[in-house]
Amino acid sequence: MPLSPLLSIILSSLLLKSVIAGDGFCSAPSVIAAGSNSRPLYSKVTDPTLSPSHLEDLPGFTRSVYARDHALITPESHVFSPLPDWINTLGAYLITPAMGSHFAMYLVKMQENSISGLPPHDVERFVFVVQGTVTFTNATGISGKLVVDSYAYLPPNSEHSFKCDASATLAIIERRYAYVGSHITEQIVGSTDKQPLLETPGEVFELRKLLPTSTPYDFNIHIMDFQPGEFLNVKEVHYNQHGLLLLEGQGIYRLGKNWYPVQAGDVIWMAPFVPQWYAALGKTRSRYLLYKDVNRNPL
Ligand SMILES: *[C@@H]1O[C@H](CO)[C@@H](O)[C@H](O)[C@H]1NC(C)=O
Repeated sequence: MPLSPLLSIILSSLLLKSVIAGDGFCSAPSVIAAGSNSRPLYSKVTDPTLSPSHLEDLPGFTRSVYARDHALITPESHVFSPLPDWINTLGAYLITPAMGSHFAMYLVKMQENSISGLPPHDVERFVFVVQGTVTFTNATGISGKLVVDSYAYLPPNSEHSFKCDASATLAIIERRYAYVGSHITEQIVGSTDKQPLLETPGEVFELRKLLPTSTPYDFNIHIMDFQPGEFLNVKEVHYNQHGLLLLEGQGIYRLGKNWYPVQAGDVIWMAPFVPQWYAALGKTRSRYLLYKDVNRNPL
């Protein structure tokens, strides 16, 4: 039955009102509005949503998965314990060689008056600040503050320390350095937003690399940004392995024949040759930090 003209005028004026008031079905925050709110950058990593909320308290429920060629380690299954050689610091190892990786990835929570320990002999270290501020000091005695979104790479066997007076969360990646010829790596200290956007032919995501691409470096760290609805064109299957920390946003990660809903705070291990693909969903930007081994002959 057709609506009477009067009724449709009333309806459309109500609709207009709710659009203007921003309280109707059009009130979902825009990408721009969501990006400009006052929540600290990467707060979802330290304060994750343990959703789906109706399953949060379900005994035995976890989204974490551990398979032969991949793992998804979600925040409700992170287990923090004191780190050997660190003071006043808790750590959760999320990817380790026990899974098949040749690197380790862990989150550390530095507390008041905390100090880092050193990695084992011949192990290189990459540190990314997720929350808080740390003071970095190296063998030369040069020190500086690292804030959220900044990072440091330490070559194997280089003396250094991270100190924290209040609280800080770091994502750390370590690997036994693969020496080749007489190459050596150098200390790198930088900040994500200072790294140039790189060309990504055929792709829409934004890519930054945090380490030099030259031969001495046996891995790189990519920061990849996707707007909601964007996805990887390439369905990658390759010899490199990956460790991924989703810093912001949510989406679907394909790993082999599995399709996982993922969100900020989730960590993924990808073994060599596992088919992999990502689509960003939700209402805000997806950003992830990705370890990738490079520059070495696999034989
Ligand atoms: C310590 O850091 C400074 C400043 O980044 C750098 O110039 C120096 O080479 C570093 N020392 C060592 C031993 O890496």
